Amino acid sequence: MNGFRDRYGPWALVTGASEGIGESFARALAARGLHLLLVARRTGPLESLAGELRAAHGVEIRTVSIDVGRPDLVPVLDAAAGDAEVGLLVHNAAFSALGPFLERPLPDLLQVIDVNCRAPVALAHHFGRRMAERGRGGIVLMTSLAGGQGTPMVATYAASKAFEIVLAEGLWDELGPAGVDVLACRAGPTRTPSYEASRPKKKVPMMEPMPVALEALEALGKKPVVVAGRLNRAVNFVMQRMLSRPAAIRFMGKHTRKMYE
Ligand SMILES: NC(=O)c1ccc[n+]([C@@H]2O[C@H](COP(=O)([O-])OP(=O)(O)OC[C@H]3O[C@@H](n4cnc5c(N)ncnc54)[C@H](OP(=O)(O)O)[C@@H]3O)[C@@H](O)[C@H]2O)c1
Repeated sequence: MNGFRDRYGPWALVTGASEGIGESFARALAARGLHLLLVARRTGPLESLAGELRAAHGVEIRTVSIDVGRPDLVPVLDAAAGDAEVGLLVHNAAFSALGPFLERPLPDLLQVIDVNCRAPVALAHHFGRRMAERGRGGIVLMTSLAGGQGTPMVATYAASKAFEIVLAEGLWDELGPAGVDVLACRAGPTRTPSYEASRPKKKVPMMEPMPVALEALEALGKKPVVVAGRLNRAVNFVMQRMLSRPAAIRFMGKHTRKMYE
């Protein structure tokens, strides 16, 4: 545990930290003794989690209420971090713009790119540079099984999740020699408030958020990409290795239409 804090502390920055998988990251990192910079849009849930984790683990916590799609994200978070050394960045917040591509207004689709692509590039560039200067640190990008192939009904989201996987892979190789570990964590269906709010019509096996966060933290420093959960790894194997690309895309389309049409 102290080894983890020495390697990736003293501070961790977690986006989308107030609920779901991001909340699990915050809980797991506080339990490892890291101080936290917690980011989400709504202040209330962030503050209540911060109060609970301060009391339980005696760590320092700062909260920042901001939409991570905003162009001034980095200056705002840099000011909030102040002299805190951020040794671990977890970019977890995402926007999915569910539904048929042509029926979603363009600003929604561009917001997917701002939150899921622009933000991780900007954050990894800023905080990754400081980590590289210190010769240690870690970056985790939360991404998805959906990023393995085109996925109808969430085409822009799936493309953004593919972007995060490929970004993490490139940075894993580039920043590794500077002592910065980079990981893409690909989740499958996970029981989070966001997932449940999307009201899927079809029930599918789901993971709980904490095992997803713990598998990511366990894999950090060991490989560039982890698929969380045994069942998700089996599904991913079939999609990537056994089905042709068109068959994998159609399989995903059948599945997402049953869930959301
Ligand atoms: N749940 C799943 O089934 C599933 C499956 C595959 C991959 N994933 C990936 O896992 C990650 C976490 O997913 P999740 O289901 O926990 O839901 P999520 O909606 O990505 O995360 C919820 C958290 O993010 C915050 N948030 C959402 N949009 C934000 C924004 N624009 N700016 C700042 N904070 C924002 C929310 O608080 P506020 O609303 O207060 O901002 C909340 O704290 C995502 O990257 C997602 O792509 C999830």
